[in-house]
Amino acid sequence: MQIFGVDIGGSGIKGAPVDLDRGDLAQERCKVLTPHPAVPDGVADGVKQVIDHFGWTGPVGLTFPGVVTGGAMVRTAANVDPGWIDTDARALFSDRLGGLPVTVVNDADAAGVAEMRFGAGRGRKGTVILLTFGTGIGSAVFADGVLVPNTELGHLELNGHDAEKRASSKAKDDHELSWQQWAHRVQKYLAHVEMLFSPELFIVGGGVSRKADKFLHFIEGIRAEIVPAQLQNNAGIVGAAMRAAEKA
Ligand code: BGC
Repeated sequence: MQIFGVDIGGSGIKGAPVDLDRGDLAQERCKVLTPHPAVPDGVADGVKQVIDHFGWTGPVGLTFPGVVTGGAMVRTAANVDPGWIDTDARALFSDRLGGLPVTVVNDADAAGVAEMRFGAGRGRKGTVILLTFGTGIGSAVFADGVLVPNTELGHLELNGHDAEKRASSKAKDDHELSWQQWAHRVQKYLAHVEMLFSPELFIVGGGVSRKADKFLHFIEGIRAEIVPAQLQNNAGIVGAAMRAAEKA
């Protein structure tokens, strides 16, 4: 079965039909730039462009970089335009797409669902936490493979700061940190999350998962196993399609 997945990120809106049996894209993905400011109407236009590129007419799953309840309502917007807060994103996208059935899910939750089924978390029991390091820090928490949605662990307090402002990959760029300096911050952050949740496994996702060899070896003193995500850039697209398939 194929369902369309769209990943809405700070820099790009990426999408493709997803082959749900293989957990992979069925066609090469299409990407358009995220408008700035990333207001609801502009983002909806971008999503329509991506869908129209494929002439898709079936169900669509979309990620959003904030809390999303009930597959529809956006509740927070830390790194996108505040105009999203309390927007019914399902209604917005569905209207713009001529009434196609739409499901919206937090971006890290989508990536987590895909990694648990097809990637680094496959078959893993106990508590597994996927953290995405990008513009912000996203989290997806699983207990015996079941997701606890919208956990928002990127906004834990770390040394008096919002953790994602200290340890996201944007923070690495903003503060011009070396891999080692940044890994030190990530280590502190993981130690804090470990103190609260005692997971068996951390999956490190987001763009940096491709560069795991540059920083994972600097991280010490964490009991849990730490592994890079495997689906990398496509985890959000695949996970969004998986969520939409559950609703369809
Ligand atoms: C948001 C999360 C999101 C994460 C990654 C955070 O700022 O609050 O909902 O998952 O960024 O995009």
